[in-house]
Amino acid sequence: MTYENGKTLTDEAGIPILSDQHSLTVGPDGPILLQDHYLIEQIAAFNREMIPDRQPHAKGGGAFGCFKVTQDISRYTSASFLQVGMKTEVAARFSTVAGEAGSPDTWRDPRGFALKFYTSEGIFDMVGNNTPIFFIRDPMKFQHFIHSQKRRADNGLRDNEMQWDFWTLSPESAHQVTWLMGDRGIPASWRHMDGFSSHTYMWVNARGERFWVKYHFKTNQGIEYLTQEQADKLAGSDADYHRRDLYMAIKRGEHPSWTLKMQIMPYEDAKTYRLNPFDLTKVWPQGEYPLIEVGVLTLDRNAEDFFTEIEQLAFEPNNFVRGTGLSPDKMLLGRSFAYADAHRARLGVNYKQIPVNASKSPVRSYTKGGAMRMRQASDPVYTPNSKDGPKPDVANFPENAIWSADGEFVRAASTLRKDDDDFSQAADLVNKVMDEAARERLVSNVTGHLLNGVEEPVLGRAFEYWKKIDPIVGERIRARVIANRQK
Ligand code: HEM
Repeated sequence: MTYENGKTLTDEAGIPILSDQHSLTVGPDGPILLQDHYLIEQIAAFNREMIPDRQPHAKGGGAFGCFKVTQDISRYTSASFLQVGMKTEVAARFSTVAGEAGSPDTWRDPRGFALKFYTSEGIFDMVGNNTPIFFIRDPMKFQHFIHSQKRRADNGLRDNEMQWDFWTLSPESAHQVTWLMGDRGIPASWRHMDGFSSHTYMWVNARGERFWVKYHFKTNQGIEYLTQEQADKLAGSDADYHRRDLYMAIKRGEHPSWTLKMQIMPYEDAKTYRLNPFDLTKVWPQGEYPLIEVGVLTLDRNAEDFFTEIEQLAFEPNNFVRGTGLSPDKMLLGRSFAYADAHRARLGVNYKQIPVNASKSPVRSYTKGGAMRMRQASDPVYTPNSKDGPKPDVANFPENAIWSADGEFVRAASTLRKDDDDFSQAADLVNKVMDEAARERLVSNVTGHLLNGVEEPVLGRAFEYWKKIDPIVGERIRARVIANRQK
């Protein structure tokens, strides 16, 4: 039968189709008939192809691969996938933050660096960025921050003044803005950038000892960046430049890899450390908490269907497995609610059953029903029960990634430590990490940005902001902006 030859066109019910050229009509020139189910199915499917974009991080791309642990770090964590020799399948997605799904990959923006580990004890997600820090330190400000980076309400245009308005009224952004305006603000490709958890997380070893940790995925391709000019050109000629680069590299057999290195702080150190170790706007100097090697992430497989494998990927920082956990970072705690909520809105309540999000270890829960449920529920559908249903295994999976807290309910900034301030780490970046050529590019990038629609009083505040980071760089920016405005 032709139906068996593997080429027969069918509708979504598998019924062979009679014509893919002509609708069913009354005579060759007559009206179209409503019972042309195939025509209607195509119109309807097309009309429903698009799902909502991710709110931030809408434009991205990804690939699949493997994480292999090369060092024994069992003294820090009991996580099964972090034991030496373990290999775990991984899905990765890289993205820009503010642009829409079709926006150019080379706009200046932090890049998302999201990883999903399909471990033998459930899904572990590391939803990081290519920057070790962030713009704000309280989730209350996140929605406003993202609004300021996207589009105006009145004319739907992006507006640099909104960005500087928010940043200059949020001095905690100085470190991340300095980073963003420097060379690393536009990576040459996703393969040529590092990935960071940015947040502090917790690890717990088999003895129940706790550590505060930060993840650093260091690119083995080397750090490379685009100048503003190169990026602007590429934005016009190939909006998908980074998506294409990753896809083509993997297709050529050039499999990008990153070495995971950790900063690890003993649990007790956090109480007296000179900086608040849970402040997302700060790094821990590596002289004090050196990088400890763990293993290698390699991406070696492209998706075959971008939509089901990349667009439907749903990462969430609350997916953490035994031996890993959250920390008191307020941003992280906000995120531990936000992502699952976003996925329910974007993909539906059963998003964890979409194959790319599904655990490869057994799922035995008591949920049932809901739109697009795929996994069969089985009785009993309640607990406690006397029917031998699944039960918590506290002996093997104790709740030990925890910390203690006490105090009145308040709405207040975290208590400042001895060396907590908003500008010194930004100043170190400008003066100790950047050389003069990099500083010059920073001045030029900021000047170009400020010349594009930023007016008083925001402009004056931007000069003061940069002077607080570094008086000389601040003055260079001010002088250059003023000179260019007078031309
Ligand atoms: C995406 C919220 C901070 C990294 C998202 C999404 C939301 C969100 C709602 C869209 C999720 C989706 O529809 O799939 C928040 C909130 C934050 C926050 C409320 C702070 C309170 C951060 C930080 C990082 C980060 C600090 C990095 C350290 C990412 C990445 C994605 C993302 C990488 C894209 C994930 C993907 O590729 O699917 N965020 N975010 N976010 N966020 Fe955040």
